[in-house]
Amino acid sequence: MPRSELIVALDVVGAAEALSMVDRLPPEVSWYKIGLELFCAEGPAVIQAVRARGKNVFLDLKLHDIPRTVERAILSAARHGAGMLTVHAAGGRAMLKAAADAARRCPQPPRLIAVTTLTSLDQRDLADLGIMRPPQVHVMSMADMALKQGIHGMVCSPQEVESLRARFGSRTLLVTPGIRPAGSDPGDQKRVATPSAAVRAGADFLVVGRPILEAPDPVTAARAILKEMAV
Ligand code: C5P
Repeated sequence: MPRSELIVALDVVGAAEALSMVDRLPPEVSWYKIGLELFCAEGPAVIQAVRARGKNVFLDLKLHDIPRTVERAILSAARHGAGMLTVHAAGGRAMLKAAADAARRCPQPPRLIAVTTLTSLDQRDLADLGIMRPPQVHVMSMADMALKQGIHGMVCSPQEVESLRARFGSRTLLVTPGIRPAGSDPGDQKRVATPSAAVRAGADFLVVGRPILEAPDPVTAARAILKEMAV
């Protein structure tokens, strides 16, 4: 089984706090996620600062726009050094293909990860959007469409990893948030799994925010998660 990697979500308000966390955490943490909050506050400079520390950046902006705009956003993000980027599968075939083509043209091609359905949406919310099929059927169909356009993988809950892996095989990257060490507070995450369960299910990347950022000692918390992932 390939080894899974930890991505620490830098869900903090500013660059100073984000970079101090990068500097404190163990060197084995090689990926950091920059999301909308931090990127809107600090812009591309924070990507470059994390990259300057020898780390990989997962830029989680969930791009969703017309194909040309998404294509150009991906070229720009790659220039700043983002190694992995999210797009919304709901942007449709042409947008996903434009995104995949743009990534291929980059000197350092970023990996593109599709969000199939926001985990904040349940069946009733989907019905409001005119989507009547069950969420799990919708997720599979969106994933299938995204992968056919050249997208490299998907964000999914730990509970979806096994079925997505079975359906799409080992070349698809599966990135799972909702990771909680045994006994820790789930917060607003509803479908959670422990680090070891997510690794066993076949996740490639585990995204962890609060269990590390809000721990009394983030370094110890990160080390414990890395240790659990390795067994
Ligand atoms: O603090 P926690 O470990 O729950 O953080 C998980 C991270 O993954 C957050 O940055 C959250 O925005 C992100 N995420 C998620 N669920 C998704 C997509 C992204 O929790 N479906």
